[in-house]
Amino acid sequence: MTSQFKTGETTGAAKLNIGGKDIDLPLLKGTVGPEVIDVRALYRQTGLFTYDPGFTSTASCDSSITYIDGDQGILLYRGYPIDEIAEQGNFMETAYLLLYGDLPNATEMKEFEHAITYHTMVHEQLQNFYRGFRRDAHPMSIMVGVVGALASFYHDSTDINDPHQRMVASYRMIAKMPTLAAMAFKYSIGQPFVYPRNDLGYAENFLRMCFAVPAEDFKVNPVLARAMDRLLILQADHEQNASTSTVRLAGSSGANPFACIAAGIACLWGPAHGGANEAALNMLSEIGTVDRIPEFIARAKDKDDPFRLMGFGHRVYKNYDPRAKVMQATAHEVLDELGIDDDPLLHVARELERIALEDPYFIEKKLYPNVDFYSGITMRALGFPTTMFTVLFALSRTVGWIAQWSEMIDDPKQKIGRPRQLYTGPTERRYVSLGERKG
Ligand code: SDX
Repeated sequence: MTSQFKTGETTGAAKLNIGGKDIDLPLLKGTVGPEVIDVRALYRQTGLFTYDPGFTSTASCDSSITYIDGDQGILLYRGYPIDEIAEQGNFMETAYLLLYGDLPNATEMKEFEHAITYHTMVHEQLQNFYRGFRRDAHPMSIMVGVVGALASFYHDSTDINDPHQRMVASYRMIAKMPTLAAMAFKYSIGQPFVYPRNDLGYAENFLRMCFAVPAEDFKVNPVLARAMDRLLILQADHEQNASTSTVRLAGSSGANPFACIAAGIACLWGPAHGGANEAALNMLSEIGTVDRIPEFIARAKDKDDPFRLMGFGHRVYKNYDPRAKVMQATAHEVLDELGIDDDPLLHVARELERIALEDPYFIEKKLYPNVDFYSGITMRALGFPTTMFTVLFALSRTVGWIAQWSEMIDDPKQKIGRPRQLYTGPTERRYVSLGERKG
């Protein structure tokens, strides 16, 4: 897997004056987007750290995979706009693009799809892991466990220094995620596991493994399969978000890819990140009717109330999340196909969006709907319970995590990630034995 790795060119220097001493820090320029101040020599030259909790102004790496212009609401996968890929492409093609840097030709597409399809089965003993969970376990807790456990089945593809093993592990991860996710869903509803089929596409196979039962034949509705495929495209990668940064940091220690993806799944689960789709739909259900929207808008603006409008706001987008627009259209397609033309939650969502986008608080803080605002409505209409929403996000994001992990391994500049801190604890003091302590 070759990463089209580029190194930023130096375009001058940022001048820093510290204690009367002038320090020149190189400015690096990428192909588009903000330049960076290279601070790698700062501590050695000044004894000072930079300070950036939450990494609001920090570039952790170079990357040529995904670019976001948050002010313009632009998202590019290897340079291709997300809406063009979502409208004209498919998830397998998108996976190839993210992994290899270019759209595949017909032969490459056929070979890639065949390789993924013929890795979709999982070791039969993995079923024992599921049976150790309570039936009401959250599917994300199961996914964190079983994905990490994959390392115990595939010793032949955990050596990250072997490019062939990295490629095998990557294909296995992408291929097996739908099977593992469907098994988590089936286990939670007490139905038997359904095996993957090699004559079905990726999204179609996943929907069949989720909704088929042994008692009868099951044909996946092509409109729903297309919607599922688009959901997967929209959430496949997103620069250095929290879960991708988690995967990179885990990978920087040399951990095997299955452990790194399990770490990414754990991070994605948080409601401020991938868990927001579940939280957003629960919020829409709690609001229930359009007349209760003002009460929730007021709570979202109340500094003393921890409530936030789930599915709104973003660290990078200070404009409409381009994925949210495509996701909204997809929600309508699914609801129309299923004849659900008066989904009360969709009414609440659309009215909440309208009111919020006109509210000075949201306008001033540039809070727009993000990808998670409409994805829940689509996934619920497809038949998934809210507890499966973040699992579907993880299914999609696995491709991005693998692509970013591979790029990190290929990057000659990367080393183990080890941030420093501003220490605010006690200075050195002598140990006091129990008998001499006060109180
Ligand atoms: C994803 O990083 C990625 O790329 C993530 C993602 C991906 O594809 O990987 O795009 C997926 O995680 C999308 C985001 C999903 N999360 C949510 O929808 C949860 C609700 N959103 C917020 O929690 C929040 O907007 C974040 C976490 C998404 C972003 O938070 P930031 O960038 O740290 O911004 P902040 O918390 O500092 O908020 C800035 C201000 C604050 O007010 P002040 O302290 O300045 O007065 O805006 C307010 C916040 O209180 N604010 C909100 C709000 N989000 C921010 N107020 C009400 N409702 C909200 N949703």
